[in-house]
Amino acid sequence: MTDLFAKFDPLIQQRQALLDSGVTDPFNLVMERVESPTVAICNGKRTILLGTYNYMGMTFDPDVIAAGKQALDDFGSGTTGSRVLNGTYAGHRAVEDALKDFYAMDHAMVFSTGYQANLGVISTIAGKDDYIVLDIDSHASIYDGCALGNAQIVPFRHNDTDALEKRLKRIPEGAGKLVVLEGVYSMLGDVAPLKEMVAVSKANGAMVLVDEAHSMGFIGERGRGVAEAQGVIDDVDFIVGTFSKSVGTVGGFCVSNHPKFEILRLVCRPYVFTASLPPSVVATAATSVRKLMDSADKRAHLWENSKRLHGGLRQLGFTLGTEEPQSAIIAVIMPDLETGAAMWEALLHEGLYVNLARPPATPAGMTLLRCSLCALHSEEQVGEILDMFASAGRATGCLS
Ligand SMILES: Cc1ncc(COP(=O)(O)O)c(C=O)c1O
Repeated sequence: MTDLFAKFDPLIQQRQALLDSGVTDPFNLVMERVESPTVAICNGKRTILLGTYNYMGMTFDPDVIAAGKQALDDFGSGTTGSRVLNGTYAGHRAVEDALKDFYAMDHAMVFSTGYQANLGVISTIAGKDDYIVLDIDSHASIYDGCALGNAQIVPFRHNDTDALEKRLKRIPEGAGKLVVLEGVYSMLGDVAPLKEMVAVSKANGAMVLVDEAHSMGFIGERGRGVAEAQGVIDDVDFIVGTFSKSVGTVGGFCVSNHPKFEILRLVCRPYVFTASLPPSVVATAATSVRKLMDSADKRAHLWENSKRLHGGLRQLGFTLGTEEPQSAIIAVIMPDLETGAAMWEALLHEGLYVNLARPPATPAGMTLLRCSLCALHSEEQVGEILDMFASAGRATGCLS
């Protein structure tokens, strides 16, 4: 018998070598208690959370929690069915209405996760004879959506509008074309030049899908994302997003003005062949999305936090993923995985949780300590975070 797990041996060995060095497993941390969007108890210690994507801090919002509790009482714990069978409750309609209002779009379709939203929409609209032109640093759910639909994949260099244009021009005349972009790329926290890219895509007859997972709620005047901030939201055909970041729960969605959009409810397999989100989740999501419409103060504070942390880390001597803060993600570039893991652990000992990211999830083989800020981090907490980076940096030799 061939052991089907043999292909994982190199990864098993790499992981074992890391654990043998005595470091805590960076991919298996247990949060024993979560006190707020910014503080949890990990290994019995108060820990500031700086790696949760909880950008707008909605997880403990009293209105959001009340809506979830009420829905549990009124509708029970789960739907036990697909949206096309017994799985559409009033709450699913309510959250889709909230999304339509939030984005000012005609249609909204909710999926069980953001991963499934990309998987479903991309694989359903772009099939075997169609072309998907995508940024090479796209999220796994985008690549998996392309693979599921069996479309021709044409990657282009990260955030390079000329490369996008060249790829588009090489596609045979008359073929179906979908350009897939992200508003904020989550590894380095950099923003796409959507204005130029959407213009080039439209000029070359392509439809455009933008994944705004890391910008919803925060970027743009009304928090609609990078497409809104760069003034091209009306030219984008599909926006995909998630409830697992700024919205503070779980779920995914796609919004669009395409007149035939609703047919997706019958033909999109990751929508049809899975159970719908529980009533408590859609109730919390609907409440959160509506509150995010009116959160300009929080957006402003989150920008302040991002600027303060970015400037402070640079001043300490760390190398960051972007020259300027472009989003609520700030990536600290580590020289290698061993140093990254040591720094991650030293920060945890100090009382700070960040994400350790390593290849293949990262671009150019980088090891990153990814920090994602929350609108509820106080100025004092950002100060504490910088102090912890300074001492962990010295303890691990990252800083001299
Ligand atoms: C860009 C992007 N798209 C989609 C997703 C998937 O979202 P979800 O957690 O809702 O499955 C993520 C999650 O990390 C993401 O970063």
